[in-house]
Amino acid sequence: MTLRAVIASLIGAGVLVFTITGVVAQSPTERAIDDADLKSGYDFQSEDTRALQDDDFANPGFLWVDKGAALFSEKAGKNDRACTTCHTDTVRSIKGAAARYPSVDEKTGQLINIEQRINLCRERHQQAEPLSYESEDLLAMTAYVAHQSRGQPFNAKTDGTAQSHFEAGRDYYYARKGQMNLACHHCHEWNWGQMLRGDRLSQGHGNGYPAYRFEWQTIGSLHRRLRNCDKGVRAEPLPFGAQEYVDLELYLAWRASRLTLETPSVRR
Ligand code: HEC
Ligand code: HEC
Repeated sequence: MTLRAVIASLIGAGVLVFTITGVVAQSPTERAIDDADLKSGYDFQSEDTRALQDDDFANPGFLWVDKGAALFSEKAGKNDRACTTCHTDTVRSIKGAAARYPSVDEKTGQLINIEQRINLCRERHQQAEPLSYESEDLLAMTAYVAHQSRGQPFNAKTDGTAQSHFEAGRDYYYARKGQMNLACHHCHEWNWGQMLRGDRLSQGHGNGYPAYRFEWQTIGSLHRRLRNCDKGVRAEPLPFGAQEYVDLELYLAWRASRLTLETPSVRR
């Protein structure tokens, strides 16, 4: 597809002004969006959707948070241990943990996200089978763990052993791809606030995930959203849990680090 055809199709889809030229901020210490302009996806939702997110009793995401809380204290695996055997409010508390993810696991040296940490604890400490990505149980457990950091700013480490992952994530972010030949920043840095196929484009932050989406009629992981964005530019989406997406997640956490975690958020 030529650039002109891309623009035409976007205009056809209701995007009146779509910027595809500009300056890319490549320095890892310089964020493309000024702190004062940083906005959560929440700010781009309708008043009704925001009201639903704000009400812990009506917010459908809490079905998964509550289920995750129950699973957290259920024994599992050959060791017959629950998460609560090792993690309590005072011992190895998971409060604030999700705000530090993705993070490098000291034993394997791999950069992992919260889903993968939960599965590592199952395998390593419970001798239980890992849960499959996007299964109800892993979504519930992730929603519960991430909710324990609600209100906290992202604080993931991007230097030391994490630095090469951070750079890989940044490179993915700025790489054009798919038949539409668009990169993340074309939509989420240069055109936020514009309408695109019924959605108001946000700045593309991951601080609300797992999130309940009306379009999905369920809660979904950040990787599900990233797959949707890749499909949106007609690129082949990567598998759930792909290292490229975990690296990208670290870059997104850094981009959003003046925002606080909102899980479970509600989206259109
Ligand atoms: C063609 C435009 C387009 C491109 C390119 C695109 N996205 Fe999106 N993205 C959307 C739309 C539309 C939504 C749903 C509305 C919104 O929240 O912005 C969305 C939503 C998101 C969200 C969820 C925001 C929230 O608060 O719920 C994240 C995170 C995100 N995108 C990240 C990315 C990343 C990372 C890339 C590059 C791999 C990317 N997007 C590429 C259009 C795009
Ligand atoms: C036998 C003890 C044990 C059990 C059971 C256990 N964990 Fe862990 N957990 C740990 C240890 C130890 C760590 C530090 C990383 C490591 O050494 O594996 C950890 C790390 C974590 C972290 C990251 C904390 C941080 O600050 O980085 C999370 C989140 C977590 N566990 C969640 C869970 C969940 C969810 C379960 C149940 C599915 C669980 N854990 C079961 C011992 C346990």
